[in-house]
Amino acid sequence: MKVIYSCVLLLAVAIVASQAYSASWGRRNNGDYLLSRQTEVRNPVKNSYLTITVDYPRAGAVGYYNITFVNVIDNFRNNSGATPSLWSGGPGYRFAQVNLRSQVSRGLNSTVEIWGR
Ligand SMILES: *[C@@H]1O[C@H](CO)[C@@H](O)[C@H](O)[C@H]1NC(C)=O
Ligand SMILES: *[C@@H]1O[C@H](CO)[C@@H](O)[C@H](O)[C@H]1NC(C)=O
Ligand SMILES: *[C@@H]1O[C@H](CO)[C@@H](O)[C@H](O)[C@H]1NC(C)=O
Repeated sequence: MKVIYSCVLLLAVAIVASQAYSASWGRRNNGDYLLSRQTEVRNPVKNSYLTITVDYPRAGAVGYYNITFVNVIDNFRNNSGATPSLWSGGPGYRFAQVNLRSQVSRGLNSTVEIWGR
């Protein structure tokens, strides 16, 4: 019984450790421009998670450059950060929509960088 419990615990630790709170899509090349850098900070909400969507270009603006690289940095760096997902666009497109989903009862501080040329 104790052995099984230890295995389950180890597995849980492995899953938590493999979870990435910083993520990137595409590749940054020499000469690419930083098209946008946006840091989103939210305070924790008890017993709930936060989900926020970052759009490039901002609503109403038109993207001219082709995106090469989307980089999301978790500024917490202690495994309590938000999970980033690329919902649409990104490398090869002129727009990108990134979602940040925080952990329950934890805030977030993530930076979304969009590179392109
Ligand atoms: C973006 O990519 C398209 C298709 O390859 C190309 O026609 C266009 O000139 C590119 N835009 C810029 C700003 O380089
Ligand atoms: C968020 O992270 C940035 C980069 O590490 C830091 O400069 C900033 O103070 C943080 N903001 C808050 C509210 O903690
Ligand atoms: C992680 O770091 C942030 C910023 O320093 C802090 O607000 C938060 O409480 C930390 N989370 C944990 C679980 O230690």
